[in-house]
Amino acid sequence: MDARSRHAATKELLNARSLRFHSSTYPGATGPVAFMPDRAEPLLSVRNLKKYFPIRRGVFSRIAAYVKAVDDVGFDINKGETFGLVGESGCGKTTAGRAILRLIEPDAGTIRFDGVNLLQLRKHELRRKRRDMQLIFQDPYASLNPRMTIRSIVGEPFAIHRLAGGLEREHRVADLLNIVGLDPAMMNRYPHEFSGGQRQRIGIARALALKPKLIVADEPVSALDVSIQAQIINLLADLQQQFGLTYLFISHAIPVIEHISTRIGVMYLGKLVEVGTSAQICLAPKHPYTQALLSAVPTPDPAAKKRRIVLRGEVPTPINPPSGCRFHTRCPIAVERCKTEEPPLRQIEAGRDVSCHLV
Ligand SMILES: Nc1ncnc2c1ncn2[C@@H]1O[C@H](COP(=O)(O)OP(=O)(O)OP(=O)(O)O)[C@@H](O)[C@H]1O
Ligand code: SF4
Ligand SMILES: [Mg+2]
Repeated sequence: MDARSRHAATKELLNARSLRFHSSTYPGATGPVAFMPDRAEPLLSVRNLKKYFPIRRGVFSRIAAYVKAVDDVGFDINKGETFGLVGESGCGKTTAGRAILRLIEPDAGTIRFDGVNLLQLRKHELRRKRRDMQLIFQDPYASLNPRMTIRSIVGEPFAIHRLAGGLEREHRVADLLNIVGLDPAMMNRYPHEFSGGQRQRIGIARALALKPKLIVADEPVSALDVSIQAQIINLLADLQQQFGLTYLFISHAIPVIEHISTRIGVMYLGKLVEVGTSAQICLAPKHPYTQALLSAVPTPDPAAKKRRIVLRGEVPTPINPPSGCRFHTRCPIAVERCKTEEPPLRQIEAGRDVSCHLV
């Protein structure tokens, strides 16, 4: 599929907000995840990751409780694939992404990246490793320093890591701007002179500067207009193919996640409740929470009647999550056992893990 027709398909897909008709609506559309992941060895292997934020109260700032933002999360990401992390607001997606990059210190777990446990690295070793792991932010307005030119913003990683200076840096910045579809002649301008989509391209150019292996993209299109979302998603997909990148793609929007991901992890209240391929999760979800999430996505096909699963109540607080299965207070099929016994995330078929007593 050429870039233009893929762009049209992506735009249509995002507009359609469709999940279940992904393949049938766009026959022959391989989607942007054509790069074949290398399953021989995961690039990233996360196990038992925990991040609890202390809540301090009183004059002595004593710890009164913890926000269990990420509570025993584990998954693998193979080289060249896109692992989509999805779930409602506050379920711990951003915390997980930042803890993996050690932008916040995890409380427990192992994070094996490219053969080393990141949690055992000392500061200077981590600094070197950081070149291989980059973050793309949600808000291209807030993430770029308004007082820096694009030349300085995109060139900053070279300065920080003392990799290129002078004319060489200038050439590299120009190359990066070309790669993300921006005119290098604009490199002396400031962020406010660019549109939202262009600013996100600048953020992507900066993330690519040090030729990373892994990019954590945290809601990279959520702040953008739908037509621009499609362009940025296609750019990320093209870059993945061009440079063999691996993505951890975080989003609350299932159509976006479905479109870009090879595999998907669904989070609820700090835990993964289901992990599988994009098709397994989106065409035949097993966990009641995944089923409810998917049922809320409108389909464009009026003939395809879907039963909307309306969840009871609000998401409980991660400060004091429900006992047993954390989803039991809202689960439409909960049984007595769910209140006391926590279901482990277990494999139910090749490549698919679910945490539910009834699956
Ligand atoms: N620095 C912090 N201190 C205390 N609590 C925090 C901190 N950062 C996040 N939290 C809490 O941790 C939980 C998980 O937050 P997180 O931002 O990871 O969720 P999210 O899934 O990324 O949500 P969203 O979709 O809204 O971005 C939330 O309850 C949030 O309020
Ligand atoms: S374990 Fe029980 S409460 Fe949890 S998802 Fe399964 S049926 Fe629902
Ligand atoms: Mg977030």
